Amino acid sequence: MNYTQHNPVPIPAMGEHQSIQATIDTVFDWKYALDRKNLNALYEKGKAAQWNASDLDWSTEVNVEKMMQERAAGGMGAMMEKLLNPPKKLTDAELMEMQLNMNAFMLSQFLHGEQGAMMATAKIVLTAPDEDAKFYASNQVMDEARHVEVYHRYLTEKLAITYEVNKPLADLLEAIITAPQWDLTCLGMQVMVEGVALAAFGMMQMMMAGEPLIQSITSNVIADEARHVAFGVLSLEGLYNNEMSANELREREDFVLEATFLLRERLLMEQVFERMGWDGPVWVEWAKETPFMRGFRQMTFAKVVPNLKRLGLLTPRVRDAFEKMDILQYENLTDSVEQPAAPPPQDLVKLLLEFLGNSTAPEGPPVIPGVNAPMAS
Ligand SMILES: [Fe+2]
Ligand SMILES: [Fe+2]
Repeated sequence: MNYTQHNPVPIPAMGEHQSIQATIDTVFDWKYALDRKNLNALYEKGKAAQWNASDLDWSTEVNVEKMMQERAAGGMGAMMEKLLNPPKKLTDAELMEMQLNMNAFMLSQFLHGEQGAMMATAKIVLTAPDEDAKFYASNQVMDEARHVEVYHRYLTEKLAITYEVNKPLADLLEAIITAPQWDLTCLGMQVMVEGVALAAFGMMQMMMAGEPLIQSITSNVIADEARHVAFGVLSLEGLYNNEMSANELREREDFVLEATFLLRERLLMEQVFERMGWDGPVWVEWAKETPFMRGFRQMTFAKVVPNLKRLGLLTPRVRDAFEKMDILQYENLTDSVEQPAAPPPQDLVKLLLEFLGNSTAPEGPPVIPGVNAPMAS
């Protein structure tokens, strides 16, 4: 934990410290019933699976630029150009700069999301009615602190390119923290934000195959996040099927739709284009429409949609909106209770393997050097 902080993260417009007023009911549970076996089992798993960020090999030399240069020399520049289909012709140097910045942007938003998760789970400790959920959420607070630690250290010490929190993510975190009902915080953070993050971490792992430090960070974080999403689904299970009035249910639908909108906006990468000195509106339009970027944003909902279905929140209104957003296609994938891990959809895996120059991948599970297969020497 003892690392020198170089390259500090830029401070957003709201300043170094942002205070948010929230009215919440803090609930003591004097019964200590601990009768939710699945939550208690998850708590036991969480305790046993703690890891120490200081034990990762921080002496690893990280040179993403070199890695990308090697990929480009292997003929991947043209492949990427084809896949990304940018709105203007980019030089090799610009293409490289863009990739470095997109990578740093994603990791920076992971960092900010992790801080939000740390605080949202601390709030769940206070507001969830049952001791089982308070126990698990307490365990998760520690996980999230560790995630903030690893991403902050990696970004500032190893990449040296960082981005402030972007507005859609900041707005969503605020909505999650200020929601007066505990289930909305849990739904927003555990099911929506963490569900999307879990898929995005998987993507990061594939894109950064060949960089061992981010591989070890990401696989450790993914193992924690898979438990967190399962916690969200298990603790909310039954609530929306049995106990809610039509008005209350409508409020949950609104929350899900707003969160989905903000989570998609979060990945348009406007700040990257600004920093590159490019025409923002043209590039945001490109990020909205180009098939690779659209596919990436859709894919991040592959776990969220089946989890919402399990919770009874894939109501006709939500289905209708998801159909328009092209994410209803994931409704029959396996949910996080049945399968905590989030393998990315096969069509996207194929696209990415092509992007990484491995277009001859066999059918079946993806073979990703440095992830589930040895690195080529
Ligand atoms: Fe996390
Ligand atoms: Fe988490």
